[in-house]
Amino acid sequence: MIKLEDVEKYYGNNRVLKGINLEVRRGDFVSVMGSSGSGKSTLLNLIGGMDRPEKGRIFVDGSEISAYNDEQLTLYRREKVGFIFQFFNLLPNITVFENIAMPLLLNGSDDEKKVFEFIKRVGLEGKENEYPYKVSGGEQQRVAIARALIHEPEIILADEPTGSLDSETGKMIMDLITQLAEEKGKTVILVTHESYIAEYAQRIVRIKDGIILK
Ligand SMILES: Nc1ncnc2c1ncn2[C@@H]1O[C@H](COP(=O)(O)OP(=O)(O)O)[C@@H](O)[C@H]1O
Ligand SMILES: [Mg+2]
Repeated sequence: MIKLEDVEKYYGNNRVLKGINLEVRRGDFVSVMGSSGSGKSTLLNLIGGMDRPEKGRIFVDGSEISAYNDEQLTLYRREKVGFIFQFFNLLPNITVFENIAMPLLLNGSDDEKKVFEFIKRVGLEGKENEYPYKVSGGEQQRVAIARALIHEPEIILADEPTGSLDSETGKMIMDLITQLAEEKGKTVILVTHESYIAEYAQRIVRIKDGIILK
């Protein structure tokens, strides 16, 4: 489903991905593990269509997303990808409900029933009218998980999703991501520097200094 061929990424003269080859099948859950600065977020952002590589090619479902123009990339991100970030990236001035509904709105839907269904599924009943800063970190990540899944993207990309949570809450969040991904048959790529988080995946890929280790 996802295939990277000899992908290289530069920031100025700094070559941060040095020829990445990676294949992920539909429904797989893969962790990318590596220390800080190894290129994990850069890799995830390329797969998520937030950026393009300088060299190499990225295919999703047979389409070369690395050759997409900005408009095609925006559509790809909006329809096919759900992102979960370390610092949640919720919109602060709208409610929990409105944050979760946002991807539906962007895709032209206002299915409130579906929003309530996801609020329930991630355990946020009663919190729907709160603002993000009023709920705990774990709850904010639950909002982000519901938001990442509500438009039924095929691909879930999680960048250190437990990185700002205590380990107990982090495990609960990982259980939720794993259960939802399995239930809905999603393809998940998660990046982390922590091995107990990486171990939730079926497969662990290790990255060091922009190279995938064999
Ligand atoms: N927007 C950027 N501009 C310049 N350098 C960047 C940028 N993003 C990341 N880098 C550099 O690329 C390297 C890899 O970063 P990153 O992918 O964020 O690593 P990780 O997520 O594994 O910590 C680091 O050396 C970082 O400083
Ligand atoms: Mg990172």
